[in-house]
Amino acid sequence: MQGSFHGRTLATLSATGNRKVQAGFEPLVKGFVRAPYNDMDALRAIAANDPNVIAVLVEPVQGEGGINIPDTGYLRAMRELCDQNDWLLMLDEIQTGMCRSGKWFAFQHENIQPDVMTLAKALGNGVPIGACLARGKAAEVLQPGTHGSTFGGNPLACSAAQAVAQTLEDGKLDARAAALGSTMLNAFLDRLAGVDGVVNIRGLGLLLAIELDRPCGELVAQALQQGLLINVTAERVIRLLPPLIISDEQADQIVGQVSSLVRDFLKVAA
Ligand SMILES: Cc1ncc(COP(=O)(O)O)c(C=O)c1O
Repeated sequence: MQGSFHGRTLATLSATGNRKVQAGFEPLVKGFVRAPYNDMDALRAIAANDPNVIAVLVEPVQGEGGINIPDTGYLRAMRELCDQNDWLLMLDEIQTGMCRSGKWFAFQHENIQPDVMTLAKALGNGVPIGACLARGKAAEVLQPGTHGSTFGGNPLACSAAQAVAQTLEDGKLDARAAALGSTMLNAFLDRLAGVDGVVNIRGLGLLLAIELDRPCGELVAQALQQGLLINVTAERVIRLLPPLIISDEQADQIVGQVSSLVRDFLKVAA
C-alpha cells in the first residue's frame, strides 16, 4: 500500500510504499503492485486488471505512515476480495499486534482472519524475535527445512516471547490497552481539539496520533528534555505508543505533558 512500512530486509523494503526509505538500497525485489491505502475501489480495479496478483500485504493500521486508521469494514472487504480472487491476505501486525490496538491482533476488530500474519516488536518486548504465522493453504508452502535462519526459533528468544504472551494474557492487557487508549484519546480531544494547527487526533487502543498542520520533528527532542519519549512520523504526526503497563497517573502525565508541548510548539511556530 502507498504509505506502508514493512521493514528493512530486502523484500519487505521493496513492498514498503515509501520511496524515501528505499533510496540507496536498489536493486529492489520486483513484482510488487502498490495501491492507495483505505481504497477498496483501487484494489478491485487491480483485481479486474492484473491476473498476476497472488496476495495482498497490508498493515491493519499504518504505523510509520502516520497511524492511518482505515474505515471500518476495510479489512473485511479485503478479506472478501481475496477470497473471490484466490489471493492470500497477509497482515503485517508487527506494530499493531500483541494487544496494542486493544485486541490481541488488530484484525479481530473486523472479525476476520488473515492467511498470513507477521509479528515482532512487542512479541519479545525488547528481546529480538519476529514471527511469520500462516494457516490453511498458506501454511503448506513452507515445510520444516524449506527455509531457515541461524537464530530462527532459538529457545532463548522463544521463551521470552512465551513469557510476554503469558504476561499479556494474565494482565488482560488487550482490554487495558482498549480502555486506557480510549481514556487518553478523549483526554487529548478535550485538551487539543480545535486548537489552531491541530489537524486531527485519532487512535485505536494504544496507537495514538496527533496530526499537526506542519512538520514537528523537533518535538521529539523537546519531549526528551522532559524525560518523555515520543515519536514523530510522516513529518507532522506525533505518534504515541505508550507501554501497555503504564498506570492511570502516568497516562495522565503523558497527556498533560504532550498537550502542553504541542500548544507551546504551535504558539512559537505560529
Ligand atoms: C508494520 C511494520 N512492519 C515491520 C517493521 C520492522 O521491520 P524491520 O525490523 O525490518 O525494520 C516495522 C517497524 O517499525 C513496522 O512498523
